[in-house]
Order: sequence, then C-alpha cells, then structure tokens
Amino acid sequence: LVAGVDSSTQSCKVVVCDARTGEIVRVGRAAHPDGTEVSARHWWDAFAEATAGRLLDGVSAIAVAGQQHGMVTLDENDGLVRDALLWNDVRSASDAADLVQELGGDQAWVDAVDVVPVASFTVSKLRWLARHEPENLARTARVVLPHDWLTGRILRTGDGFTGWTTDRGDASGTGYWSAVTGDYVPDLVRRAAGTDLAVPRVLAPAEAAGRTSDGLLVAAGTGDNMGAALGLCLQPGDVVVSLGTSGTVFAEHDSPVGDRSGEIAGFASATGGHLPLMCTLNAARVLSAGAAMIGCDLAQFDQLALEAEVGAGGLSLLPYLDGERTPNLPDSTGTLGGLTRLNATPQNLARAHVEGMLCNLAAGVDSLRRQGIRADRVLLIGGAAASRAVQEVAPVVFGVPVVVPVPGEYVARGAARQAAWALSGREEPPPWTTTLGAAHDVPAGNAGQELRHRYSTLLDRLYH
Ligand code: XUL
Repeated sequence: LVAGVDSSTQSCKVVVCDARTGEIVRVGRAAHPDGTEVSARHWWDAFAEATAGRLLDGVSAIAVAGQQHGMVTLDENDGLVRDALLWNDVRSASDAADLVQELGGDQAWVDAVDVVPVASFTVSKLRWLARHEPENLARTARVVLPHDWLTGRILRTGDGFTGWTTDRGDASGTGYWSAVTGDYVPDLVRRAAGTDLAVPRVLAPAEAAGRTSDGLLVAAGTGDNMGAALGLCLQPGDVVVSLGTSGTVFAEHDSPVGDRSGEIAGFASATGGHLPLMCTLNAARVLSAGAAMIGCDLAQFDQLALEAEVGAGGLSLLPYLDGERTPNLPDSTGTLGGLTRLNATPQNLARAHVEGMLCNLAAGVDSLRRQGIRADRVLLIGGAAASRAVQEVAPVVFGVPVVVPVPGEYVARGAARQAAWALSGREEPPPWTTTLGAAHDVPAGNAGQELRHRYSTLLDRLYH
C-alpha cells in the first residue's frame, strides 16, 4: 500500500491506495483553518488528525502534494518565523509589479525562470517581507513551500530528516527556479529579499526525501496541480480544469512553455516534463457566494441554474470576488452586467455565476492553445465539478467535450502514485488508469461563443 496527501488551502486529505492498481482503499480527512495567511502547524495537525487511528497501517511509502507557492519562512533552528503567506494572498501585488519592472519586464522573467511573477508567487512574497517586516526577514535563514515543510515534518517525527527538499513541480512556482535549466537562480532570491536565503534541494521525480524511523519511505512530493496531473494519468490532448478554492487550467507538455503575457505559467510537472498552467482566484467559492446571495443552499442553486436558458437571459458575471490573478487584476471586484427588469430572476442569477466562473477559466484553455497545446477534451475536477449545472455549462463554454473522472481525490492519488513510483525504483510511474464518467458533448449552435463574447466585452469595457 502507498499513501498520498493533499494538503490544500482548507483541509488535509489522505488516500491509501493499492500500489499496483491505484485503487483507493482508505481515505482520511481533516479540515484546518483557511485564509490567506496561516500557521504551518495547522497543516501538521490536520495531517495527524486525518491519519489518526490505523489509516497508515501497512503503508510502505507516502508523498505530500500541497498548495503551491506559499512562503514558509524558517529560522536557523528550522523554527517557523511567521505564519505562511499563501498563494491566494494578494498583498504582494505591487511587489510583483516592481520585480517585473526592475528585471527589465515580462520577457526578462520568462528568459530567467519561464514565469512572470504575480502576487501569488513566492518571490513576490519575499519582496513583501523585505519591505514590510525586515525584522522577520532578519530572522529568516531559509524559505520552503507548504509541501516541503510537511514532508520535512513527517520525516522529523523520528530521526529520518536529513535536510529540506522539494521537487521540480513545486520549485517552478517560486519564481526563482527555472523549469528550463532545472536550476535555482539565486540572484532572484537576493533581488527579492535583499539577502541570500537557503532553499530546499530539488529532488528528481522518483527520488525519495528520506525514510521515517519506522521505515516509511517519504517520496519527493509536489504541488497540488502537479499531483492532480499525475493522479489523473492524462492522455495527449487532455486539458484539466480544476474547480477548487483556486481555478486552474493545465496540460502536460514535453517542452517548456514561456508565455510573456503571464497568462500561462511555465511550471514543471511531477514527472520530469512540464505543466503549463493558468490559475484564477475565483472558482468553487463563486457558486457558494451566489447561493448565499440568492438565499438558497448549493443543491437549490444548482437546480436554479439548470432551469435558466443558456446565456442567463443576457446577464454576465465577472466573478472577481477575491480580486483576480488571471487576468492580473488583484484589486478588481465582481461585476454583474446586463441586468434588466425582465431578466432579474434567481434562475438567471444562478446561471450567470456558473457561466461567469467558467468563462474566466475558458480564457485559460484559449491561452494554452495559443501556446501550441492541444485541447481535445476537458477533464473537470475539484469540488465544483460535482455540480450538474457546471457539467452542463462547461462544454458550452469550453467548446470541447467535458468528462468528470470518478471517484475524485486526484491530488492525493497523484501523490500516492509518486510514492508508488519512488518505491518501485522504475524509470516510469506505475501504469495506473483513471475511470471517467460519461462525456458531456458540445451542444449544437453557437450559444457558447455569444456568451463568451458578451463576457469579454464587459471585461474589456471595465478593465482595458
Ligand atoms: C496554482 C495555484 C493554486 C494553488 C492552490 O498556481 O496557485 O492552484 O496551488 O491550490
């Protein structure tokens, strides 16, 4: 048996799988405080709660997939200097803009590390720390990511810890490691923080971080999106749209993708390849906010959205409830456009939330295509993928068939697959497969194009 951990923004999920087939045999979960700034200790407490009892009995290897980008600052004794600043914290937006300008613009960043920093990236958070909390920076000896910290913490339960490690996938979200060269760019850490800081060693995809004193092999781990890609066993032409706290759109690719517009981040994957990715700050929570506004629960909200016609009677929602990262509008807010006395119904309002959330992500599918990446079908994952309204609207908006894999928990399953890979000592990850639900096909007509056009016109009018 092998175990995989999904340490996300809100909770810790652990799956135990058959190492040979990938079948999930046990699951443990625990919630932890969420927000944009939290103590890493909560991740450990949630992991301990999720694995309490005998969840890990008979498990030979484990790996952690974690929320990307979070800045975990450690002092000389590896103690936590302050709460971690997470991927969804936009306070470092102006720091990101300054860094882009100082290095000479978007292309200079793409040349250096294959990404253009935004507020989410670790490098921007380091600059924020240097500017706003010099006393905390002075105490900081090292910076690691959420999955690195939890991996280290698991090894520290005994005497298995031999040093901080990360993997290619998560390292590529820092803004100071290049997916093209496979190396850190220490100059960028110095530029952001004004000082040198230690960073974790980058492990190869199937390399182990260590063994606990109980003999449990701890694999490299990775970022959550890289974990999902590994857990889904993607086929060529597959694009994943993940609807969790963040919305992400990504695909596996053989070569690095450098997008100077910053829409697509040129991340590395957990398999030695690449994972070009677009990320929004507004996904599943757009639906819960819509339900709260209408005054219904999520099941009723889903039903209302299904009752409305395609196009929500002319309503368009720009769903930037938490500001937005792609498009890069950290200070934006949500906007409802096209409201008239006739179309102001709960049905249209619910539908506009679903369509708006998906239009925002459909821009990511277009951006991937512009980078030469095939998008033949969309695999829809994450909490909001269970919504029937989302499943119905998605092919309309994306313009390609949409499938929902079962049974879910793909981030944790990907981590488990990595653990099985490290255990096997083979060249390739184990040949697990994914069960897909029925395909939702693109309906005839061009209703999707019309509603996307209306959405981008509103966006252009307000922000460009
Ligand atoms: C990706 C990103 C988010 C986090 C949170 O760049 O910031 O998807 O990994 O899950």
